[in-house]
Amino acid sequence: MASKIAVIGTGYVGLTTGACLASMGHDVVCVDVDVDKVARLNSGEIPILEDGLDRLVLEGRRSGRLSFVVGAAAAVPGREFVYLCVPTPQGDDGSADLSYIESAAREIGPHLDREAIVINKSTVPVGSTRVVERALQRGDVAVVSNPEFLREGSAVHDFLHPDRVVIGAADQAAAIRMAGLYIGLTAPIMVTDPASAETIKYASNAFLATKISFVNAVAAVCEAVGADVNDVVLGMGYDKRIGQEFLRPGPGWGGSCFPKDTIALIRIAEDAGYDFRLLKGVKDVNDEQFERVTRKVIDAVGGDISGRRIAAWGITFKARTDDTRMSPAIEIIKRLQTAGGEVMAYDPAIRAEIEGISVAEDAISACQDAEVLVILTEWDEFKWVDMEAVAEAMATRRIVDARNLLDRSSVRQLGFDYQGIGRS
Ligand code: UDX
Ligand code: UDX
Repeated sequence: MASKIAVIGTGYVGLTTGACLASMGHDVVCVDVDVDKVARLNSGEIPILEDGLDRLVLEGRRSGRLSFVVGAAAAVPGREFVYLCVPTPQGDDGSADLSYIESAAREIGPHLDREAIVINKSTVPVGSTRVVERALQRGDVAVVSNPEFLREGSAVHDFLHPDRVVIGAADQAAAIRMAGLYIGLTAPIMVTDPASAETIKYASNAFLATKISFVNAVAAVCEAVGADVNDVVLGMGYDKRIGQEFLRPGPGWGGSCFPKDTIALIRIAEDAGYDFRLLKGVKDVNDEQFERVTRKVIDAVGGDISGRRIAAWGITFKARTDDTRMSPAIEIIKRLQTAGGEVMAYDPAIRAEIEGISVAEDAISACQDAEVLVILTEWDEFKWVDMEAVAEAMATRRIVDARNLLDRSSVRQLGFDYQGIGRS
């Protein structure tokens, strides 16, 4: 059954949520404070790189089921469900900053219909459902937690084919009405209390970050003992209790979620009297990984990188997105620049200089006269680059492949000195 929905905040999460709910047959109005963004969306322009999202937005607008407006107060009357997808950035003390959530709730409070349901979709610490209830000041409106688990680059797929839908609600009737929105999906719908739902989100992200820090630590051991991390992961992953997913070694994890959510969970635990030493270790290993990759590049040119030209493939925090928030690639490039290196970078999704990093037109021109090439983001396109042309362009043939992306034997045949992560 089609429902009338409002989505506040049209970022990666809000825009994907709105467009997918409209594609499931619901009537959705998306709201944003950014006037320019709303105008672009109303002209059919998608401000982010997200597979399949442009088609969904176009279909939604054409069908009349999806619209974009500025101003939440005007948008929520007549809406049975209102999703909050506004930012919850990291505060100075590491905890999640709820000021946008609270201001959005205060703004819509007086304008909501009786019996409307307000949904926390943004990642919010335990107890935020009550924070929103207080800001709404409406005893006749239910607040529900419905965390998102979508990955950038596959957000549309992850929304429409989730592993689970989690609903956290004190009000069972509201939880059942919420569940009705997702009837079309084939995933288990789990209903629990708000605190558990809010914790599921943080614990899930923290556990995924733990898997990656673990495999990066194992990669360091592999380098020391002469083992091959790719084979080690394969051998581990056959054990169904471990699985193969999220065990790709690399330059460390980043993005708009893992860094802020791991720190926020450490703070949540601390405030509740638990010292989350394990998760602190996970973060330390990640910071160490940035340094390990930086060191590899510096050692590759003999230990002093000042004045040396470095080519870097990859700027975004991972492939298939244009998002550079908390990108490991940018972190490592900046460390190389601080050490005196002259970096020329290339990324399929980044066309202009960013954060003081020079950006080349294409992968080969980025390598012009470079003494070492470092691969930082796992774009498929890098696998198909003509490595003979790269060899010609470079001053010396050296590669540090921080994503184990290239076929090491074929590049070695071209005379490259090749180093991966966790394998010799
Ligand atoms: C957001 C949160 O940042 C993240 O913590 C949460 O887990 C999921 O939702 P994302 O969609 O990536 O993540 O955020 P962002 O891309 O920054 O988009 C937020 C949108 O909200 C922006 O378009 C911004 O203009 C808008 N916004 C912000 C509002 O409409 N109202 C506000 O008060 C603040
Ligand atoms: C993550 C969660 O996966 C998603 O469920 C949640 O909703 C939001 O946060 P996202 O930030 O899009 O999604 O990135 P993800 O694909 O999880 O990658 C996070 C970081 O880990 C990236 O820097 C990526 O390159 C790195 N990574 C991921 C690895 O280094 N190895 C892996 O095996 C997987």
